[in-house]
Amino acid sequence: MTNRYTDYNNWAWLYNKTVGPDYSQPQLSLLKRVFLPQIPDQGRILDLCCGTGQLIQPLVAAGYQVTGLDGSEEMLTYARQNAPQASYLLEDARQFKSETAFDGIFSTSASLNHLMSLTELRQVFERVYAALRNGGLFVFDLNHPRQLERWWRGQPTEGEINRRYAWMITPHYDPDTAEGAFVVNISQAAQSHLGLGLLLSPLKRLLYKILSRPRFIGIRLKLLQNFDRIEPHWQQRTLTYSIKGHPIDAVKDTLEQVGFTNVVLQTIDGHSNIDNNHSAHFICTKPFSVQMTNASSQANSSFA
Ligand SMILES: C[S@@+](CC[C@H](N)C(=O)[O-])C[C@H]1O[C@@H](n2cnc3c(N)ncnc32)[C@H](O)[C@@H]1O
Repeated sequence: MTNRYTDYNNWAWLYNKTVGPDYSQPQLSLLKRVFLPQIPDQGRILDLCCGTGQLIQPLVAAGYQVTGLDGSEEMLTYARQNAPQASYLLEDARQFKSETAFDGIFSTSASLNHLMSLTELRQVFERVYAALRNGGLFVFDLNHPRQLERWWRGQPTEGEINRRYAWMITPHYDPDTAEGAFVVNISQAAQSHLGLGLLLSPLKRLLYKILSRPRFIGIRLKLLQNFDRIEPHWQQRTLTYSIKGHPIDAVKDTLEQVGFTNVVLQTIDGHSNIDNNHSAHFICTKPFSVQMTNASSQANSSFA
């Protein structure tokens, strides 16, 4: 029995306001290009590791029957608020079961990099395979080892300061172990005892507003690195998320061993050359006539 992955519980409230909406726009463009054209009208879709559900809402609005699955109860709480018409499964991607045979399953924003071994990734692929109808589509993205080595260098990459909270993400990766993590530093302002406002001087408010402009990212990240000294009374929290860099070829082989066919790789912009500046988006199909390999018969039988 695998433990359900719950690490995002403490990040959920902030993820829902920040990276959730930010990441969903480019991901939705990719889904519109490679995924939705192959899903029938009102078709059944599973958003695997759906997080706070920003992708679910537009798909429901477009008429699809969407289910969101996530291991984090808190992430699902926000997903339910964002897209109340969808169905939800609080389950681990390595062991989920679904009564529904989905027309398509997708997983975005490198969620599957949290699977820390190829064996676990394969477990997910087997669950996905079993949950798809024959001819169904599976699309997901991964940050790959060359990209991680190039960009995850222990320097802060994203962050925001406003009068209520501040946050910063610092990713790092060790090519020798193919393991890494990103650290999320979160600071929250103290509420005044009357609850009427936040204890922040007008000057600081103005500074934080100016620094929120995209062009001040460098100064903002520098400030964020010393934020506990700048706002010593704010509540500080550090969250760490482990990831694995799975080699692209090994992932492709594993998908094929499980029974997927037509495995195609693209960048988010649709290029077939996956360089070290881009994540790898995998697009693959469960064939219509399924050859019963050992892996696919195991994946199917566990749903009997
Ligand atoms: C980076 S977030 C992405 C969320 C959403 N897909 C998006 O694009 O914004 C990763 C999500 O994957 C979920 N997750 C990671 N590993 C999981 C697992 N083994 N089972 C279920 N959910 C998992 C986390 O709880 C989190 O909500």
